[in-house]
Amino acid sequence: MLNFKEVGTGVPLVMIHGFPLAGEAFWPQWESPIEGVRFITPDLRGFGQSPPSTGTQTMEAMADDVLELMTALALPTAFIGGVSMGGYVAMALTRRDPSRVRGLVLVDTQATADDESARARRETTAKELELKGMGPLIEAMSPKLLGARTSPDVYARLRRIMSEVNPTAAAAATRGMALRDDSKDILARFGGPSLIVVGEADTITPPEKAKMMAELTRGTLEVMADAAHLPNLDQPAAFNAVLARFFAALTAF
Ligand code: MLT
Repeated sequence: MLNFKEVGTGVPLVMIHGFPLAGEAFWPQWESPIEGVRFITPDLRGFGQSPPSTGTQTMEAMADDVLELMTALALPTAFIGGVSMGGYVAMALTRRDPSRVRGLVLVDTQATADDESARARRETTAKELELKGMGPLIEAMSPKLLGARTSPDVYARLRRIMSEVNPTAAAAATRGMALRDDSKDILARFGGPSLIVVGEADTITPPEKAKMMAELTRGTLEVMADAAHLPNLDQPAAFNAVLARFFAALTAF
């Protein structure tokens, strides 16, 4: 089973981390739980303290692991959230079994699949991970993850989390991301509440991608100032407030 940590009480939200991270990438939310939310953060297979992964790890396989975790926690349904790759997993889970999804929280992610050139780039990245380890990927990704004003301490902890990932698992997830489905149909069909969050300075999955997802789900769109790809780390207090407001509005009736 996946390793996980949970904090807070209220509406269950399973929040899935991005690539190449771990549940620990939600440390500000661990330290200051979101009001009204039972915040459950798994480590995906191959990441954090979860069992290892090799080969190709599809978004569907990761979604099945999350569904198994929900069953183990006696959660027939929950809000499912994800940051970037975690969002791909949340959408794959919704395709797998929408009856277990009370609502969606999609953060700095995208509904579209990779095109051919993006797939080829993923394979180059996977091979480089296998040959050279995490170093080059960390150097390439780090500048894109956080906003210009974010403190060096946050960068340092994030880089430490990435450096602890096994390159074989990172390569497996990279190959899995290349195979992911286009999820626009899933979002268009989804009838539950949805919150779409994006950092205004995100260059990996920019605000246009979030806008498209919010249009498809007819959900709430929040564009966060002074944030890039990981707004929960760039603007933890504002991020928590956005989520608290969304859940409070749902339970107000
Ligand atoms: C992530 O942050 O999870 C990745 O950048 C997503 C991706 O590479 O598509």
